[in-house]
Amino acid sequence: MTFAKPLLALSALTLLAAPAVAGDAAKGEQVAKLCMACHSLTDAKTKVGPSLVGVVGRPIASVEGYSYSQSILDYAAKAGAWDEAKLDSYIENPKKDVPKGKMAFGGVKDATKRADLIAYLATLK
Ligand code: HEC
Repeated sequence: MTFAKPLLALSALTLLAAPAVAGDAAKGEQVAKLCMACHSLTDAKTKVGPSLVGVVGRPIASVEGYSYSQSILDYAAKAGAWDEAKLDSYIENPKKDVPKGKMAFGGVKDATKRADLIAYLATLK
């Protein structure tokens, strides 16, 4: 009985972490080309933006040494870590959740492309 609670909490977390629509990571790799001008997808290097390696599940605005906008730091304080839902919202419209953020990118409006992209981002370790 002692183990029941943590186990339940764990399975609830797993459920929450599951993306609403499972994306296709192979297709997402193509979409990710939109991000490569400003983000490294292969190593920890900072470009215009912070590296996106390991971004799924990572605390928001947590890359050490990167100079984030106050706006994304404020968002991080209330939103915690990047999960699929938060990434989906941010990538659709970077100014919605982070109104004065410095990511100068219009967003990916196609929901399927975003799901594919996030599935690909989840493979970057
Ligand atoms: C024109 C450059 C540019 C492009 C293109 C761009 N980004 Fe960004 N991105 C940034 C900058 C700059 C930040 C830092 C935002 C801040 O400090 O407000 C950022 C931040 C982020 C963050 C938050 C990272 C963290 O450590 O919390 C994510 C996630 C992100 N971008 C995803 C993407 C994705 C996915 C794409 C492609 C679809 C993309 N970005 C395209 C410049 C860009």
